[in-house]
Amino acid sequence: MILHVNGQEQAASPRPGQCLRTMLRELGWFGVKKGCDAGDCGACTVHLDGEPVHSCLLPAFRAEGRRVTTIEGLAGSCTPELGETAGLHPMQQAFLDAQGYQCGFCTPGMIMTASVLDQGQRSDLATALKGNLCRCTGYGAIAEAIAGVARVERLADGDGEPCGRSIPAPAGRGIVSGDAAFTFDLAVPDLLHLKVLRSPHAHARISRIDRAAALAVPGVVAIFTHEDVPAKSFSTGRHENPLDDAADTRILDPILRFIGQRVAAVVAISEEAAEAGCGALLVDYEIRDAVLDPDEAMRPGSPLVVHDSADQPGEDAPPRLSHPNLAAEVHGEVGDVTAGFAEADLIHEATYHSQRVQHAHLETHGALGWRDDDGRLVIRSSTQTPFLTRDALADLLELERDSVRVLCGRVGGGFGGKQEMLTEDLVALAVLATGRPVKWELTRQEQFSATTTRHPMRVTVKMGARRDGTLTAIALNVVSNTGAYGNHAGGVIHHGCNEVIGVYRCPNKRVDGYAVYTHTLPSGAFRGYGLSQTIFAVESAMDELARGLGLDPFEMRRRNVVRPGDPMVSNSLEPHDVEYGSYGLDQCLDLVAAAMRELAPADIPSADWLVGTGMALAMIDTIPPRGHFAEARIALRADGTYALDVGTAEFGNGTTTVHAQIAASALGTIPDRISLCHGDTDRIGHDTGAYGSTGIVVAGQATLKAALALSQGLREAAAERGGGAPDQYRVHRDGVSSPSGDIGFSDLLSDGPIVRRGKADGSPRSVAFNVQGFRVAVHRSSGEVRILDSLHAADAGRVMNPMQCRGQIEGGVAQAIGAALYEAVRIDDEGRVVTQTFRNYHIPAFADVPRTKVFFADTYDRIGPLGAKSMSESPFNPVAPALANAIRDATGARLTATPFAPDRIYLSVMEAVEHRDSPV
Ligand code: FES
Repeated sequence: MILHVNGQEQAASPRPGQCLRTMLRELGWFGVKKGCDAGDCGACTVHLDGEPVHSCLLPAFRAEGRRVTTIEGLAGSCTPELGETAGLHPMQQAFLDAQGYQCGFCTPGMIMTASVLDQGQRSDLATALKGNLCRCTGYGAIAEAIAGVARVERLADGDGEPCGRSIPAPAGRGIVSGDAAFTFDLAVPDLLHLKVLRSPHAHARISRIDRAAALAVPGVVAIFTHEDVPAKSFSTGRHENPLDDAADTRILDPILRFIGQRVAAVVAISEEAAEAGCGALLVDYEIRDAVLDPDEAMRPGSPLVVHDSADQPGEDAPPRLSHPNLAAEVHGEVGDVTAGFAEADLIHEATYHSQRVQHAHLETHGALGWRDDDGRLVIRSSTQTPFLTRDALADLLELERDSVRVLCGRVGGGFGGKQEMLTEDLVALAVLATGRPVKWELTRQEQFSATTTRHPMRVTVKMGARRDGTLTAIALNVVSNTGAYGNHAGGVIHHGCNEVIGVYRCPNKRVDGYAVYTHTLPSGAFRGYGLSQTIFAVESAMDELARGLGLDPFEMRRRNVVRPGDPMVSNSLEPHDVEYGSYGLDQCLDLVAAAMRELAPADIPSADWLVGTGMALAMIDTIPPRGHFAEARIALRADGTYALDVGTAEFGNGTTTVHAQIAASALGTIPDRISLCHGDTDRIGHDTGAYGSTGIVVAGQATLKAALALSQGLREAAAERGGGAPDQYRVHRDGVSSPSGDIGFSDLLSDGPIVRRGKADGSPRSVAFNVQGFRVAVHRSSGEVRILDSLHAADAGRVMNPMQCRGQIEGGVAQAIGAALYEAVRIDDEGRVVTQTFRNYHIPAFADVPRTKVFFADTYDRIGPLGAKSMSESPFNPVAPALANAIRDATGARLTATPFAPDRIYLSVMEAVEHRDSPV
């Protein structure tokens, strides 16, 4: 058939059932993104004869003879009246000027929809954008883009210090034009496709796989079962020290421990053939008893999940753990908790539940692999940890580390979910076995049912305080469901039990934490890394204590939070490397308290709405413990620009922008003259990866060291030529100046390249703080919650890029609002995930998210690079308790489980009313 794409006539032969999106991508229009296959996310939006459509829903043959416009052709489709600027449509320019994106994966679809809105539609974006989801921004920057608000600050020479300015992301133009290449935006000839058959049983042993029928499927090239893969155990979770995670997983395992686990992989010439091959595999399962609930899993005699010696002769539960179904546990006490509770005038004790939630980054997990011209294995992956993935692949497949290269394109969101090796191992294996390039891109259904989630947790908190509000004792009992595998189980339980009580200067603290294996899909790293669940409990308890004592909730915190110089103690007195590199918690409390006092009277539709306010705080260590490493390399070019290589990946966290700012600051130039390569194991020695905000705090430190070393090297080279001491020289845009005149860069390079490196090891660590406030209205009859005001103060040290940091906070709060109010990965009685689409796993759409007002504490961190601290991960953490506290204030009901669905709120309110009205 013939269609017209972006003004070009194109011939195409769509396959039966093929959608327009897939066909366009096969034709090379990679600006059309794949976020789902159900018309839910809008990432694939194109114009068909000028009308926006979700191209994943449109059969490709329907485009015959039609005019299709993708993001790549949007500028060319401008009507003369609209005009176009420098090759961009006005809406593309607006998104560029407002930086209406973070990872940018949703951006082409968002722009395609926004570009045809008339003024009336622009005044109701909640309706106009209901078909386009963004997981990163919280929609504030998108609204500003569509309103024509220019937020970015473009620096020219002489405009001064680049740090602390709202510099645009270097990739911005590529993102709005559709040219930025995400993981799969690459045409690879002779490509094979991989699909997996997944377990229908929560616990089973594969007794036989008959592959004959599958091999007979036309196009099937190879099949892998547990008999074809190395019998080595590893963890999908990636950490600098691989021993941090239990080695309990195999590439393909005859023991199946959750519904959705890999059973076998089929490689074929097309996705359809690979799927047909999976369907033709005949598998006999020996079905076993499964345990889905962590409490049941810890009972004597419960089915064993990973430490069943019948499956692994000679192996048993690690002796340090108290039950074979434990992946990790933590116990500790400082002071005397029993005595502390005896001193208390008021004690609050309650149990709080946090559910599974999905990262829901719009780019699913996946990898592309091939052999390069030297025969090396190359994996292009959607990962936050390219170096640790390279190391794991080399170890697992017994390859020399130098013979494996892992690199990232632009990564379409991560939120911790891509600190796992979930696809790269099978792709690597298939490349090595077939000698051909192989692609495996998870579907949205697989993303929901077979990747990782936040750890569901049950947290029992007991806190006591004296009449004046002074805390006397804190006790936490935490049960975390790690699912079928222990990836990140230990890290999450330790982290989740740490800063949450470390932030309070109570003398008596006790923690007991358990990460429990069950036959459910694995949990993993998720924004907050355990803290969002425990902070929900502790900050709710603080609110109850404040209420019981008649204290203002801000004042209750002020009386108890740690202050600079206090030891930071959670559950042991062991030495650690956390220091107060800066301290802005007091400012954060004051900023939100003042903003709440200044709120105008609430505008509510009727007396059926009950209004209340609530707040909560959070502290986070800026870097993971026990070592986090990064390297950077920077070289001067003759034209006065610099080539910077860093290992950390960019997935919307803004590291590339901040690294350019840091390097430019050290070298007396502007960020536009720094070109940056990231996330490629061939270009730098090592980088642990993107955890929290280590891309800025640790890798940024390496960049700063490299850039300062280069500046020093340039001054020394100039001094050799011009005489005198290097400190008399100053690096500037065109060269190095001295009192006796300028020396140009090309002169300095005449003796050869000038390159410097920097390394950082992530120690010591600092602390960052967040305070969230809400005003809500709750409908007394339906339980519906409306967020009237959202206020957030952050202590991010020196804010390197206010626009970008604000975007991270708005996005983190929006994601946390989804987790607090409605998001839930639901599992049925057999262990099957039933929420497998965006349609029944609701992430916030434009209409669901309030505009959060963001404030920054004025601090400068003496540990972080040029004063900066982390601020991507932590805004999530205080949101659920702040909302719960606001609902409590409005209704009298204390919610002890997320999500706060209307029915749950309604029942809690009824219970609170009955409790209040019942005779004592
Ligand atoms: Fe919207 Fe990442 S910027 S999904």
